[in-house]
Amino acid sequence: MTDANFPVPDAWAQNALIDKLAYSQKYDLSVSDPEAFWQEEAKRIDWIEPFHTVKDTSFNEADFHIRWFEGGKLNITANALDRHLETRGDQTAIIWEPDDPASEGRTITYRELHALVCRFANVLKAHQVKKGDRVTIYLPMVPEAVIAMLACARIGAVHSVVFAGFSPDALAGRIEDCQSNIVLTADEGLRGGKPIPLKANVDAALEKVAVDHVIVLKHTGADVPMVEGRDADWHGAAAEAADHCDAQVMDAEDPLFILYTSGSTGKPKGVLHTTGGYAVWTSMTHQYVFDYQPNPDGSMPVYWCAADVGWVTGHSYVAYAPLINGATQIMFEGVPNYPDHSRFWEIIDKHNVEIFYAAPTALRALMREGDDYVTRTSRKSLRLLGSVGEPINPEAWDWYHRVVGERRCPIVDTWWQTETGGAMITPLPGATDLKPGSASKPMFGVKPEIVDNDGTIQFGATEGPLVITDSWPGQMRTVYGDHDRFFQTYFSTFPGYYFTGDGCRRDDDGYYWITGRIDDVINVSGHRMGTAEVESALVAHPSVSEAAVVGMPHDIKGQGIYAYVTTNADVEGGDELRAELVKWVRKEIGPIATPDVVQFAPGLPKTRSGKIMRRILRKIAENDVGNLGDTSTLADPSVVDDLLANRAK
Ligand code: PRX
Repeated sequence: MTDANFPVPDAWAQNALIDKLAYSQKYDLSVSDPEAFWQEEAKRIDWIEPFHTVKDTSFNEADFHIRWFEGGKLNITANALDRHLETRGDQTAIIWEPDDPASEGRTITYRELHALVCRFANVLKAHQVKKGDRVTIYLPMVPEAVIAMLACARIGAVHSVVFAGFSPDALAGRIEDCQSNIVLTADEGLRGGKPIPLKANVDAALEKVAVDHVIVLKHTGADVPMVEGRDADWHGAAAEAADHCDAQVMDAEDPLFILYTSGSTGKPKGVLHTTGGYAVWTSMTHQYVFDYQPNPDGSMPVYWCAADVGWVTGHSYVAYAPLINGATQIMFEGVPNYPDHSRFWEIIDKHNVEIFYAAPTALRALMREGDDYVTRTSRKSLRLLGSVGEPINPEAWDWYHRVVGERRCPIVDTWWQTETGGAMITPLPGATDLKPGSASKPMFGVKPEIVDNDGTIQFGATEGPLVITDSWPGQMRTVYGDHDRFFQTYFSTFPGYYFTGDGCRRDDDGYYWITGRIDDVINVSGHRMGTAEVESALVAHPSVSEAAVVGMPHDIKGQGIYAYVTTNADVEGGDELRAELVKWVRKEIGPIATPDVVQFAPGLPKTRSGKIMRRILRKIAENDVGNLGDTSTLADPSVVDDLLANRAK
């Protein structure tokens, strides 16, 4: 079934913005004459002053630089808000669905959103936030999260959103790394009926790193202590602020935001995106991938990206692109299985959602509960489905297509990364015949290649590391505070190319199939986790002397976390310590880093030079023990016998 072909439905071929011919013509132009292509596409953005140079980029070490739309001046919120006021001021921008369906939701028009953003931008100013300052945002999925992000962009401050599931320690590390002096948070978040103590987490984080200001949104109404002189009430401050705020004039290459993501070292990287290229890239990809255009009756389709704003998907395809494109979108606070497993589909029916974009992990979890939760809802409004964050296995694809979309909705399986800003390899619903499990073809301006281990480009059907050979406007520009790390991480493995960290297969039809990470990053429920990050959390525990973490196959999460732990000589590993270590990692990083398996190991397989042979650990975790490969270079081959004997079942 994996290679079955799902042709573009006729209605899509006829009505979509991009059909097959348009795709090939535009793609060819985008790679043969990027200047001409992007000159035209950049017209979707209102520039305060035009740019003089479309593209000035080099991936080579000697003159490494990435600049797009130089000379151009703009403000991204003027594009997301102000320019809509005349034509769609009364159109709903955001429909907010609360965690509990019995609670009151909210709808916010473009006019209201504009006023809320301006007001809060003035609150930031009143707290001495200036252009270029970093603002940490630690909020649940409430409209204020988007309002906060846009308010920063309004005045040229650089937001750093920290996912509200991260622990106080993880939050403190991120505040410290970008030296932000202000944190925006809420009393509590709410997910699946459970309160998340956000303000308490902030207070705990601020025991490690100091900031001058905390602004606290009253959300659940929980009683939270406020620190005199440091903490301010969101609504109180906003009530005193004016609802007019001029949009700061930004250079195309001025920073827009930092978003921390896991890499192959212990410390998350601050991925930095800039303004002009990101605005063009996200709005273009959103428009084409989701075929976002007015319905025949002139209304805008209701669009729902179910990602949290704490991840890049929520940045590009909730906070920015849909608003730049004048969309009406859903923002959902809760989880797919609360109060029961029909919640997604009920929200779709309630608001006539036409376009739905989610992660395979959620689909797999819902699939397991049976079809009734889906089929008892109507879903007749749905026209297009999307997938993001991890490879979608053919079974989940089939279920999404057949049960959720009743075979009438194409699925756009979008491959991209925090670093890429927006969708890079993806079907377009009117142009691409679908193969379940394949992200299919490159987006305009993207030049993917598969290389061998020496970095030589391979042609035709092949498999290997995936690189991108030329820049695109939404590319990250640096690792905040460490430009050298940016170069070393992405451009030194295969000189001259951007290395994605992913493995990939290309078939005879030129379709790309992402096979998963080939670096020390694992993808847990569509979220990136660095194995080194979990290892450093484990070794910080007083009973642990050494730890090695690898991915393991997991039915729902895609990949789970398998930790091999060597305890100190005087400590015995057992169930109690195992439970304690799991709790410890959750506290150090957050619940997403919860190890699925902890195996105590008196020794780890190391080469004579002391390097851990992860290949062997991966095989054991994957239960592929018949084929451990060459173990003769191990300093002590007998450790493998112990690992096998004590393998977690
Ligand atoms: O391994 C790829 C996987 O997710 C990684 C990027 O993770 P992150 O930066 O958190 O961004 C996730 C949301 C864009 C990639 O290196 N990945 C993402 N989308 C897909 C995918 N793997 C296969 N298919 C996808 N559609």
